[in-house]
Amino acid sequence: MNPDSPLPFLDFLQQRRSLPARLLVEPGPDAEQLEILLTTAIRVPDHGRMTPWRFIRIAGSARAVLGECLAAALERDDPDTLAPILDKERGRFSQAPLVIAVIGIVTVGHRIPEVEQRSSAAAVCFQMLLAAEAMGFAGQWLTGPAAYHADIHAALGLAGNEEITGFIHLGTASQQVPERVRPQLGPLLSDWQP
Ligand SMILES: Cc1cc2nc3c(=O)[nH]c(=O)nc-3n(C[C@H](O)[C@H](O)[C@H](O)COP(=O)(O)O)c2cc1C
Repeated sequence: MNPDSPLPFLDFLQQRRSLPARLLVEPGPDAEQLEILLTTAIRVPDHGRMTPWRFIRIAGSARAVLGECLAAALERDDPDTLAPILDKERGRFSQAPLVIAVIGIVTVGHRIPEVEQRSSAAAVCFQMLLAAEAMGFAGQWLTGPAAYHADIHAALGLAGNEEITGFIHLGTASQQVPERVRPQLGPLLSDWQP
């Protein structure tokens, strides 16, 4: 690449953004598009080539079933949970046409520190957002109680060393939202003073 000429890809990176899941509508990626998206997403740095991640597709009617499972789990935990909160969680996976759970696989005691394994899984999540946007879709990376609840882990069949790095909600933008306030670089950068 020529460093003297403006790079369209840099423009893309500077303008990229997420879209709230409630604004994601059909069409979502079809099977072929999802394969492209995920093949792109797994092209991330991965120290030790551990491949410390995998995906679970939550599509169609499975979305409502998982939402029901989440609402039931939360109500069991606290029977006083307010109905609007349960309703929100019940509908959590049914907003966007497609949800991909990114599962981080953490190998304890490996020469590659756990934080590095988790970092690679996080990179996959972000690369999914980039790939989705580059393909004309929109997405949002969400966790919420679903990501940490043992019942959801069991429902999704997670092993003991697996965790939910993120639910990536994918679809087409029904509308745009105002840009959020972005951090200013200034205070984030310092010179190391030896
Ligand atoms: C690990 C992780 C988990 C997140 N979970 C949530 C969440 O549960 N609810 C939420 O409103 N935003 C959550 N977010 C924030 C949104 O993904 C995102 O930051 C926001 O939509 C703006 O994104 P943008 O900076 O890509 O435009 C999470 C972000 C990360 C990195």
